[in-house]
Amino acid sequence: MRRVVCPGSFDPVTNGHLDIIGRAALLYDEVIVVVGANQAKLGLFTVDERVAMLREAAGGIANVRVGTFRGLLVDYCREQGVSAIVKGLRAVSDFEYEMEMAQMNYRLAGLETLFMTANPQYSFLRASRVKEIATYGGDVSSLVPESVLGRLQDRLASP
Ligand code: PNS
Repeated sequence: MRRVVCPGSFDPVTNGHLDIIGRAALLYDEVIVVVGANQAKLGLFTVDERVAMLREAAGGIANVRVGTFRGLLVDYCREQGVSAIVKGLRAVSDFEYEMEMAQMNYRLAGLETLFMTANPQYSFLRASRVKEIATYGGDVSSLVPESVLGRLQDRLASP
């Protein structure tokens, strides 16, 4: 079985993430979407909330599974028997950060990273910007799935 991991913070999942997840699911037998839990306390949403939003948004894709990991990504991938991860690249600004992690993961455990270029429709989209816009009352309804929209409004109304 060709299985790949799609890791991230997903605080919260955006339509750009979903685009990458959906496209990866067309290429692999199974995509394991995992929320990194090491720094979770720093986020707007808890890890459980992020997982719930991902499950609601991507649960309709039969070969997508959502989970969490703690510690090193290479250790999680080894435990799952996965030898490659998929990440989205929006622009050159992402490249340095992603390249450094990709090369370190390869150095640590031979874990491959496959980059999928963002759909141009979402190349400007990042979770931190969505939170900023929503904080000041901007409309983010075309940027995040339904599962996120309601929770975002609730959280920002009563942080
Ligand atoms: O949303 P992000 O910033 O792309 O997610 C980054 C994440 C969670 C994939 C990355 O920080 C990570 O893999 N963390 C786990 C700790 C780890 O393995 N660090 C070494 C990576 S080279």
